Amino acid sequence: MFLCILILSQMPALSIAQKERFIERFMQMNSFVVPNSINQTMELINHIRELKKEKDAILLSHYYMPAELQILEEEGGVADFVGDSLGLSLEAVKASGKNIIFCGVRFMAETAAILNPSKKVLIPDMEAGCSLASGISAQDVIGLKQKYPGVPVIAYINTYAETKAECDIICTSRNALKIAQSFPNDRLIFVPDEFMGKNLREVIYKETGKELIVWNAKCEVHEQFTKTTIHQLMESNPEAEVLVHWEVPDEAVKESLSKGKGIVGSTSDIISYVSKSDATEFILGSECDLGATLRGLYKDKIFITPCVKCPYMKKINLQNTLDALMAIGTKDEERYLVKVPEPTRTRAELPLRRMLEFS
Ligand code: 13P
Ligand code: SF4
Repeated sequence: MFLCILILSQMPALSIAQKERFIERFMQMNSFVVPNSINQTMELINHIRELKKEKDAILLSHYYMPAELQILEEEGGVADFVGDSLGLSLEAVKASGKNIIFCGVRFMAETAAILNPSKKVLIPDMEAGCSLASGISAQDVIGLKQKYPGVPVIAYINTYAETKAECDIICTSRNALKIAQSFPNDRLIFVPDEFMGKNLREVIYKETGKELIVWNAKCEVHEQFTKTTIHQLMESNPEAEVLVHWEVPDEAVKESLSKGKGIVGSTSDIISYVSKSDATEFILGSECDLGATLRGLYKDKIFITPCVKCPYMKKINLQNTLDALMAIGTKDEERYLVKVPEPTRTRAELPLRRMLEFS
């Protein structure tokens, strides 16, 4: 407590221009709602910006982070880069600075650590998990390989290091299709997302006749976009195009594409689809704060976003991001440090590097 008061009293004065830039961005992203405690928010932001310089750290932030963590430094915020899981992995590879603060979930921070063994990667809350990543273990993959000898295993990046280490190649939602299509084999194993696997299988089978064997884990956010939910949203908003993530149940995806308006794809596919579409209204079948990203990017479009929040992503906030930065170089650092012991790191790096060759 005393330390907190001391730090706040030592903070540099807030710049009016920075505060204005931040509020403008925040309001665009959050449908013109001003944050309740704007002064407190700005104090946290200012402190994070100062500490990033002092601790030689860069801050990577996923599109599912709350709006205040998606605003870039040059817009008055704290992020050096905001992206999807592939974008964040690529950024982690070329990261400058000795330390990476990862505002996303643990499997993403772990990926950054696997690719950057010489850097410290810190996550503001170790409890930021993922129902897909915890839905499969290394032993499960070993079992699949015994059951289907010689069939290549493609793992979604939403897996932990020990699981990645057993797989042939990693993919993200952005490159999964391209990677699966690149294999000459007639059969492929895709883990861990059942719905994403089934959605990919549909496309791959039509195009190449290849069979995809899928695991049974589910994203607890995207599985909530059922066929009925999507149908009702389409009925109430007949002009809207429908944007759904690969992780949405296959039945709901079929429903969303039934009027020929919209796409199933990755987070980045969804973002770029809007930029090319003439439509003004969109139904979003994905995580709530991707709606904030879209509103921030496309000011003249309307996004209908049933707000399903990822409880793991929402564990990260400005306060624990500041706490992680403050801990760098102190005895508290261990609490935030993402470690991948050898030989798992080297074994997991191989399928990850194979994926990066595609990107
Ligand atoms: P992206 O690969 O689209 O960033 O998605 C990650 C994720 O966790 C989706 O739920
Ligand atoms: Fe995992 Fe789903 Fe959250 Fe993405 S949205 S991190 S897949 S639980």
